[in-house]
Amino acid sequence: MKIELKGLPNLNEVKALILPVFEESEISQEDYPRNLKEVLEQKNTDRPFLGKKGSTRLLPLFHQEFPQMVVLIGMGKREDLNPQSIATNFGKAVQKCYTENYISVGLDLTPLEGTLPLKSLVQTLGKSLILSKYSFNKYKQDSSDETPPIETVYLFSRDEEELFSTKSALEEGISIGEGICFARDLVNEPANVMTPSALAQVASVQGEIYGLDVKILDENEMNRLGMEAFLNVSKGSSQPPKLIVMRYQGNPSSDQIYGLVGKGLTYDSGGYSIKPTGGMLTMKMDMGGAASAIGTIAAVAKNRLKVNLTVVIAACENMISGNAYRPGDVIGSMAGKTIEITNTDAEGRLTLADAVHFIIDQEKVNSIIDIATLTGAALVALGKNITPYLSSTNEGSQQLEDASKNSLEKIWRLPAESDYHDLLKSEIADMKNSGPRLAGTIVAGLFIEKFTQSLPWIHLDIAGTSWQDKKGPLSPVGGTGAGVDLLYQYYKIQSRSKKE
Ligand code: BES
Ligand code: MN
Ligand code: ZN
Repeated sequence: MKIELKGLPNLNEVKALILPVFEESEISQEDYPRNLKEVLEQKNTDRPFLGKKGSTRLLPLFHQEFPQMVVLIGMGKREDLNPQSIATNFGKAVQKCYTENYISVGLDLTPLEGTLPLKSLVQTLGKSLILSKYSFNKYKQDSSDETPPIETVYLFSRDEEELFSTKSALEEGISIGEGICFARDLVNEPANVMTPSALAQVASVQGEIYGLDVKILDENEMNRLGMEAFLNVSKGSSQPPKLIVMRYQGNPSSDQIYGLVGKGLTYDSGGYSIKPTGGMLTMKMDMGGAASAIGTIAAVAKNRLKVNLTVVIAACENMISGNAYRPGDVIGSMAGKTIEITNTDAEGRLTLADAVHFIIDQEKVNSIIDIATLTGAALVALGKNITPYLSSTNEGSQQLEDASKNSLEKIWRLPAESDYHDLLKSEIADMKNSGPRLAGTIVAGLFIEKFTQSLPWIHLDIAGTSWQDKKGPLSPVGGTGAGVDLLYQYYKIQSRSKKE
């Protein structure tokens, strides 16, 4: 699919023209050729299109060859417009064009003038176009009817000169979209394919493509480092664990390094605290944090953001065997702290504890973000469209909120309630790995916090948002790539604020 920026619409080039319509405003555009304007007005008289958010209407123009169809999309109220509503509304309209098999589609941005800056508009559209055409069908012999036929999308705006100045914003949007789709692919790969070794291989290939420094540590090296918490989770699997380290140096004159840790459970059966079949069925997605961390560092490197970023992923499987860890075991950790295992299904925090200690101790980062499909409680709290997070600082929280506003992701802060550390007190060890059911997302975060050595820290729990069971305007069923857009925007803010 090509995305091209154009001045005034040349209607002979597009099969379908997408026209955004705001609530309480006219649909016809003065600048259009007279006949189109008349047709639109005439078609709209019987049952006026009201422009309600998310509504669409197809207006076929039979007597003309081009465009064959005008797709009206309701944008809701002008003042409520934001990147997220633009992306979902356009996503819906483009999906309509896919099902109608249009090869070339035009999007008219002129009605959106004066809402968002054109650059962020174009970036959002580039991103959402890439997302809306994503599909994962490599395991189907016949997938022809699932591949959208669209070849070219033209973005039109009356202000040609300003439009052309958004070319780099468009490319940035496309590269973020590609980073998200890359993360989706990794999540959608089944666990028998996307093993810890395969994930490590993927990271190495990304390293070569984007000039990152990638190191893979094997079990022996991790043993030597004392990564007991991580290795205990992996013990029951016949797949060897891998510790993946990826470094991007985008600001060599600074010694500030951002640390990003992604949960990399390529499969989570629950271990001896076994999950029911239904809960296990999608647990190939338990490396969603890792996938998004890799997608993020790729997008950051591709766009040459001026930050130093190090990603660490402790990749393994949580399985059952005669060698697996048990409920009741007491294990150590790289930080030296001892942990009583009260639930083998609370495995993510164990792998993250060592990964966080490693990234501070060995990689010398100054701040940490961890991103993890960590708790079912995240779904209970906020559902499938909002990512809950904890932040040790208000400044970090503010920057993440700003990043969210530039991205297509919604987030909500939960308190890192220090009193709740008591819920992880153990009778026989320094801590236990799971508490009671209450406040499950917070408590899981607090477990990780114990290993952050008081560095600025943000914890993102994407258990709900990393996988969708229903098709949406911008994603099919499966992995969503949640975190890539948000984190990219976060590091972009960092790259700006740290520039002298
Ligand atoms: N990977 C799961 C969390 C999860 C659940 C992700 C549903 C996506 C959808 C995690 O390892 C887990 O099993 N967490 C337990 C923790 C509990 C034992 C304290 C949970 O949420 O039930
Ligand atoms: Mn688990
Ligand atoms: Zn898990």
